[in-house]
Amino acid sequence: MTDTLTSQATDEILSVAIDAALLAVNIIMPAMDRQILSEHKGKTDLVTEIDRAAESIIISTIKDHFPSHSILAEESGKQDQLSDVLWVIDPLDGTTNFVHGYPAFAVSIGVLIHGIPTIGVVVEMPTIKLYTAIKGKGAFVEGEPLSVSTTPELIQSLLVTGFGYEHGKNWNTNMDLFKSFTDKTQGVRRLGAAAVDMCHVACGKVDAYWEFDLSPWDSAAGIVIASEAGAKITRMDGGNYSIYDNQILISNGHLHDAMIHEIKAHL
Ligand code: IPD
Ligand code: CA
Ligand code: CA
Repeated sequence: MTDTLTSQATDEILSVAIDAALLAVNIIMPAMDRQILSEHKGKTDLVTEIDRAAESIIISTIKDHFPSHSILAEESGKQDQLSDVLWVIDPLDGTTNFVHGYPAFAVSIGVLIHGIPTIGVVVEMPTIKLYTAIKGKGAFVEGEPLSVSTTPELIQSLLVTGFGYEHGKNWNTNMDLFKSFTDKTQGVRRLGAAAVDMCHVACGKVDAYWEFDLSPWDSAAGIVIASEAGAKITRMDGGNYSIYDNQILISNGHLHDAMIHEIKAHL
């Protein structure tokens, strides 16, 4: 493979990612109002037959088009074909919300090329909003260009965060941060679907998002969409972010330094 894929090749990958995500949506949405049996992966970490069925249709769609590409998916792990193209899949982000019928969950498909997050597709449900981005080509929701907010100060901002399933040191630190940012802003939301949170920064509904202990499939698509919408993305300590990191801060840029300053006081 050449060093970079052609624009036509990335367009083709985006198109397959959209098809795969919408096929998954067609499995997830009709199941929303059904009683779905859930199993526990951890004390509060749920998985359902719908997560697995959605993941399976996404992977088979990718393999039909790109049999040599590598895949990392939440429920089935890594299928490494030694390809320079890695698909990173969360078939259902916000499973707990889905199981309870709470309206914030998503399909998230990110594609890394030579390790660089390059393509992102998130479908927010139950509203079924399609967010897409290709690195260098902007971010879109339902085909309309996206951009982050221009909120200049924390005191005017609305933030969002999330809490992982492990209730250890980071979880406790985040409880403190939740309190502290609630005091310094117009509020902090906690929706329970990381990919949706990142898309909400991308479209300026919230001004920033942070979280500890995400997995690669939680952020691989959302960071491309947020970054193409003009967001600044780093670790919470200000360092360079990778999808394999355990902390992320995404902001409209204006709030970034003030947030890092506040976060550092708690780390
Ligand atoms: C979870 C959600 C949640 C976040 C957790 C994730 P899942 O993903 O994105 O918002 O706080 O860290 O694990 O398990 O519903 O795919
Ligand atoms: Ca997830
Ligand atoms: Ca998931």
